[in-house]
Amino acid sequence: MSHTPNIIITGATSGLGREMAVQMAARGEHVIACGRRAARLAELEQIDGITGQTLDLSSPPHIDNFCAQFDTVSGIILNAGVTFVDRFDAGDVATDMSLIQTNVAANVQLIRGLLPALKASKGRILIVASVGGLTPLPYQAVYAGTKAFMVNFGLSLREELKSDGVQVSVFAPGGIKTEMTDIPVMKTLENDLAPVADVARAAIKTYDKMPALFVPGGQNKLITLAAKVFPRHVIAAQAERIYRKARQDES
Ligand SMILES: NC(=O)c1ccc[n+]([C@@H]2O[C@H](COP(=O)([O-])OP(=O)(O)OC[C@H]3O[C@@H](n4cnc5c(N)ncnc54)[C@H](OP(=O)(O)O)[C@@H]3O)[C@@H](O)[C@H]2O)c1
Repeated sequence: MSHTPNIIITGATSGLGREMAVQMAARGEHVIACGRRAARLAELEQIDGITGQTLDLSSPPHIDNFCAQFDTVSGIILNAGVTFVDRFDAGDVATDMSLIQTNVAANVQLIRGLLPALKASKGRILIVASVGGLTPLPYQAVYAGTKAFMVNFGLSLREELKSDGVQVSVFAPGGIKTEMTDIPVMKTLENDLAPVADVARAAIKTYDKMPALFVPGGQNKLITLAAKVFPRHVIAAQAERIYRKARQDES
């Protein structure tokens, strides 16, 4: 059983999760970095303050076993996520279900499983959602659905858990240059992708301050504002045009 202050970060083997783990360890936090790729976790363990733990979010029994080892948790950053970028009818049900399992079901199970430990240390939950959870995102329809779930789930839990001293915050970035966006269709939109180190800094600031919801970056803030002013279907149509053009330019 762990009693020392600890921050669990899921999806820490690459991209935003890895960068947050490195930056948080550098300021003296004890980070438990999670993911499936053991070699990457071993590499991270070379950094002072980081402990690696394999965690396969596709396996509910594995998630249960993971949660059972903690009796206190200072914080959890639910960062792991996957997407599928294409027309919905080009996908298949196995990919849809695995996306929903990783982005939604696993996170719900982790929070439920770790809640006693989070309550014991009056801990923090940072949910990494996406601008795609605040506005519709054609060609990533299932992904946008999972992130919208996490936004509403997180903001609802935030109010419920206040009386237990557990804080919940939602971080909703736009495009970031990571493995997730290292795909042909994103090539023409590459200039719009934010450097991962900058986004990680914004995520950590969000973890420190725990606002209800934080959207980093001027352009993302504008998109989010537009989604409040215009009907969602208008935003969806505009996003569809942008991504359709990117798909055409790529092919
Ligand atoms: N990149 C963007 O443009 C962007 C924009 C907005 C929001 N986000 C969100 O930011 C978060 C991080 O994304 P990223 O861009 O950093 O992605 P990334 O570089 O592809 O990293 C994804 C992480 O999730 C982990 N993961 C995936 N499936 C898993 C599973 N079944 N079990 C355990 N871990 C799993 C991966 O680890 P293993 O493969 O080692 O398991 C990896 O560490 C995600 O929630 C994403 O939706 C990203």
